[in-house]
Amino acid sequence: MSYQVAVLAGDGIGPEVMAEARKVLAQVEKRFELQIGYQDYDVGGVAIDNHGCPLPEATLKGCEAADAILFGSVGGPKWENLPPNDQPERGALLPLRGHFELFCNLRPAKLHAGLEHMSPLRADISSRGFDVLCVRELTGGIYFGKPKGRQGEGEAEEAFDTMRYSRAEVRRIAKIAFEAAQGRRKKVTSVDKANVLACSVLWREVVEDVAKDYPDVTLEHIYIDNATMQLLRRPDEFDVMLCSNLFGDIISDEIAMLTGSMGLLSSASQNSKGFGLYEPAGGSAPDIAGLGIANPVAQILSAALMLRHSFKEEEAAAAIERAVSKALSEGYLTGELLAAEQRADAKRTSEMGDFIAQAIAEGV
Ligand code: NAD
Ligand code: IPM
Ligand code: MN
Repeated sequence: MSYQVAVLAGDGIGPEVMAEARKVLAQVEKRFELQIGYQDYDVGGVAIDNHGCPLPEATLKGCEAADAILFGSVGGPKWENLPPNDQPERGALLPLRGHFELFCNLRPAKLHAGLEHMSPLRADISSRGFDVLCVRELTGGIYFGKPKGRQGEGEAEEAFDTMRYSRAEVRRIAKIAFEAAQGRRKKVTSVDKANVLACSVLWREVVEDVAKDYPDVTLEHIYIDNATMQLLRRPDEFDVMLCSNLFGDIISDEIAMLTGSMGLLSSASQNSKGFGLYEPAGGSAPDIAGLGIANPVAQILSAALMLRHSFKEEEAAAAIERAVSKALSEGYLTGELLAAEQRADAKRTSEMGDFIAQAIAEGV
């Protein structure tokens, strides 16, 4: 089969980790006889520098023409002082999510075998492992609600964001969570703040209603503040966590770190037609950009999600995941996963990509 991918590597560590994902995909293409065409486009800060805007027309058109978007990360200190809508995040990433109606964001986090001691969790908790899928609503809520802005002057100046959800928006993401749970451990934990927010009250009502169509799935509700704490106490009891846009953003960084590093969490953002953007859940990591030490695993696993969800190439996706597991379980790790005294053994970004690509070539 042949596919076209728009590659938007972006800023900071984006191009570094994207190079490793491409290396791995090249081996996957050989082994599984896939033909994947790639077109690179500028996005984010690099697009501001080269073209004067974070999401140039050519980039958007290229994404529209492609079968999927493989995205790195955008943003960084250089562009932080531009007007908000001209910045990489608000001027490129959010508009891309909105333009393609990528309402469904899947962020799968599990504690990899061999990495139990890299988790910041207490040993008796991490030894039980965990496997959580964060299902995050991605095109609504306080990120996109109108009005949004500032008004007034001096000490009277105020800023405002609007949190808004329709029944239809909640329903479509809730269905995704229940369907995902049916293929897993059959439990949905819906995360909200229904003791304070009107949006969360509606969210609960709709989720309860959707649950009636999935009698085999257990539903529980949890407040966001309690959720962040229970994840530290008993992560193994969560299966699918259904979250609104902002709460999913917070939960996903937490579950990433529980696995040992932000650099392990992949993400798939899809619309109702199955078109998707695949990106690491973490950002451009300006603190380590350019050093060749970023963990490319989140980007590589995001490529696997692209193969699975957009191209239905399950075998190829699973091979990438096995190759990543092999690297991690054999202690082939980048520095952020290691304790300070072990960092001399840390692998570089490109060494991780080489190892994972090689494992695929060897038929893992
Ligand atoms: P970040 O995720 O970039 O970094 C947080 C911490 O995690 C840093 O210490 C970083 O070094 C570490 N980290 C992240 N990814 C890593 C990897 N692959 N390997 C090793 N360590 C990794 O979050 P931030 O510092 O809050 O944001 C930096 C910039 O990235 C900001 O401009 C932010 O808006 C942007 N951002 C972009 C995206 C995206 O493009 N999807 C996502 C999140 C943040
Ligand atoms: C993420 C990021 C983005 C978000 C930012 C960069 C807009 O943090 O994908 O988690 O908040 O959704
Ligand atoms: Mn985030």
